[in-house]
Formats: sequence, C-alpha cells, structure tokens
Amino acid sequence: MSGVVSRGMPAAWLREVGVDYVMLPVRASTSGPAVGASLSPGDAAATVAPSASAVETLDDIRKELTDCRRCPLCAGRATVVFGVGNPRARLMFVGEGPGSEEDRLGEPFVGAAGKRLDRWIARIGLRREDVYIANIVKCRPPGNRAPLPDEAKACLPYLLRQIRAIRPEIVCTLGATALNFLLGVEEKITRERGKWRERDGVPVLPTYHPAFILRNAAREAEVFGDFDAIASRLRLPPAK
Ligand code: URA
Repeated sequence: MSGVVSRGMPAAWLREVGVDYVMLPVRASTSGPAVGASLSPGDAAATVAPSASAVETLDDIRKELTDCRRCPLCAGRATVVFGVGNPRARLMFVGEGPGSEEDRLGEPFVGAAGKRLDRWIARIGLRREDVYIANIVKCRPPGNRAPLPDEAKACLPYLLRQIRAIRPEIVCTLGATALNFLLGVEEKITRERGKWRERDGVPVLPTYHPAFILRNAAREAEVFGDFDAIASRLRLPPAK
C-alpha cells in the first residue's frame, strides 16, 4: 500500500491494511527515529512506502533452518521446531527449547506446559493462532536440559530474524532461560518477571515458564498480572 497516513493512526491498523513500514520525517535531532523505522504503537508518519520491504519472511528463515548444523543439538533432533502461529502476531512468546513431544510433532509447547500457556493466552481473549510461539533453540536438548550458552548463541540469530520478520508489539519471554539468552543478561526470573525490557526496539516482558507454574501453582497469580499488563499495553478488550 502507498499513500498518506496521519499522526495517531494505530500501528496495528496500518499493518492490517498492508503497511509494513513508514517513512518518518527526518528530524534535525540525531536522537529521533530513523527514516524507514518499523511501526510502533501510536507512530505517526507523513508518507507511506510500498510494503514490498526488504525484510525476509518466516518461510525464508524456515528454509535455511531445515538442514541446520550450527550446533551439536542437530544430532539428536527428530525435527527442527521452528515456531508456530500468526506471522503478523502482535504478541510473541519465546520459550526455552523443544521437549520430546515438541521434537516429535515439530511444534512448540504442545505438552502440558503448552496447555497451560494456551490457558494464559485465552485469559486475555486471544487464541494460540493469534500469537506466535518460538523457542531460544529449535532443536531438543537431550534429557530436557536447558540449552547451553553455545547452543543458544548458535540459534539466537534465527530467533532475532523471526522477531524482525513478525515485528510483534510485545515479546513475552517464558522462564529465566528465554529472558537471559534473548536479552544477554544473567538475571533471576523471580526478581525480573513483570519488568518491561527491550530487545532491538521491541518491548519484552519476562514471565515464568508454564512448566515452572505446573510445579509452583501459588505463583500463577503473578503470571496473571503479567498477562494483564500485556493485554493493557495491546489495548485488548476485556476477555469474555
Ligand atoms: N518448553 C519450552 O520451553 N518450549 C517448548 O516448546 C516446550 C516446552
């Protein structure tokens, strides 16, 4: 789409009508947004560039991953668990890595933890197919251990490219592993959950991993609070 958009047009609506990025007026200040910056909520613009942007698609990235041998996890995998969901999702979740069911079926979060995640998503009025779900690593770590730093480092570029292709308004990390590897920090999830951060200009909200909540039900109220914060930032209508 090309044409003129005005200040205050919501980014989500612009995306829906096919606008992928906007040309922002050049500012005298060097701290202003870059020309051609991606849309964020409430962005304003003068002229709209064509949507045939240079950003690669999820399919481009997926193709590259099929034969990935960047780390030793490839030796034990049945399938590469790329990610699932809406390629234009406003909300994206990042977990740790596939478990045995995910490895078998090729889809993230299909086991008990996934069912719990689905419930949290439904609680804010969305369905699994509305969001996008991926992991720090795309191949199953043996014995369901956490990914090692070298494995996460090898796989992270794929995840960052997925985030760039989807351009979600929010990334919600699930558990300490996702928080620490996505943001390059070493934090305790009990201290950091619920605090907004940022990765490459995208707001990131860390919360607990659903598998942790399956073992620590008393902490689920904190997750509900985090999901309420997400719903409010996305201006989602109250769930029925
Ligand atoms: N746990 C994760 O972190 N990711 C999955 O895909 C499944 C379980």
